Parts: sequence; structure tokens; C-alpha cells
Amino acid sequence: MFKLVLTGDAGVGKSQLLSRFTRNEFALGSASTIGVEFSTKEVQINRNIVRCQIWDTAGQERFIAITKPFYRNALGALLIFDIQRLETFNNLDRWFQEIRANVGPNPCTIMLIGNKIDQRHIRAVTTDAAKRYAEEKNIKYMETSALDATNVEQAFQQLIQDVH
Ligand code: GTP
Ligand code: MG
Repeated sequence: MFKLVLTGDAGVGKSQLLSRFTRNEFALGSASTIGVEFSTKEVQINRNIVRCQIWDTAGQERFIAITKPFYRNALGALLIFDIQRLETFNNLDRWFQEIRANVGPNPCTIMLIGNKIDQRHIRAVTTDAAKRYAEEKNIKYMETSALDATNVEQAFQQLIQDVH
């Protein structure tokens, strides 16, 4: 059983990325997560079937104390921002620290995700800026869209593969 967590500011698309990945569903204007939720999915990596438990944390500030314990023992984390909203990119350091401070002693593989790439015509964060940030932190970067499913499967697969 692999434990993964999704983190990042409110509204970046964590819950929709998870529902796209686990159920191939997407909802526009979905409600904010209250506290934490989780889904499981079996993923094939090489010849192995890996069972993943994916925790979707609330990005709203008022839930920060509630979500902390759910990072514990996570093997992988998707650190997500919204390419349309610069503030969600500027807050990444905070979430990066939040993961590091709460996962515990085991190593946790973090991957940076720029979501809502379907909105690239109004993007506020360039691919280059995001790549530079990821290089600085020594983590991988991918751009996704929960709306049109671009790279969603690939991002989760890559993270699980890197953890494996
Ligand atoms: P919190 O639960 O508050 O932390 O937010 P969240 O990160 O879970 O965001 P959520 O998945 O609820 O998505 C927020 C809004 O963005 C919703 O209206 C979604 O429909 C929309 N959204 C999510 N992913 C995408 C995407 O890839 N493209 C577009 N255009 N909209 C998206
Ligand atoms: Mg949510």
C-alpha cells in the first residue's frame, strides 16, 4: 500500500485531479474540500500492481492544523499550483515546508504540478519559471489539466514509479 498526498493552495484543482485519476470524472465549480478525503486506486507499475491510497488535503488556511497529521508516512506528494494564479505559485515554498515538516523520517518523493493547462492562453506562470523552481528543489515538474485529462494519468504514474 502506497500512501500519497496532494497539497497546494485552495482551488488549484487537487480534488479534481484525484477524481479524474481515480474515476475519470471532472466537475466544474466543485466545492472546496473540508479537512481531508481519500481515494484508493490500483496502478500497474512494470509487472506489479500497486495499491495507492491518495489523500486529498484541503488548501484553505483554516484547515491547516487538521491536515498536518495526514502527511505522516506519505511516500509521495504532488505539490500543485494553478498556472492561472501567480499567488498559488508563490505559496509553493510554504507547502513544500509543510510536507517536509510532517511526513516523518521516511523519504517522501515530491513532484511539482502546474494544473489547469487547458487555460494556457491566460497563464500567469511560465513553464520556464516552474521548471526553474522544480530544479532548485530537485523535483520533477509536469503540467496537467483535470478538465481535459492532459497528463493526469502520466503525473500519478510518474510519481508512483519514482516512489516504487
Ligand atoms: P481545495 O479543496 O479548496 O483545497 O481546492 P482544490 O485544490 O481541491 O480545487 P478543486 O479540485 O476543488 O478545483 C477548484 C476549481 O477549479 C473547481 O471549479 C474545478 O472545477 C476547477 N478546476 C480544477 N482543475 C481544473 C483544470 O484542470 N482546468 C480548469 N479549467 N479548471 C479546473
Ligand atoms: Mg479539494
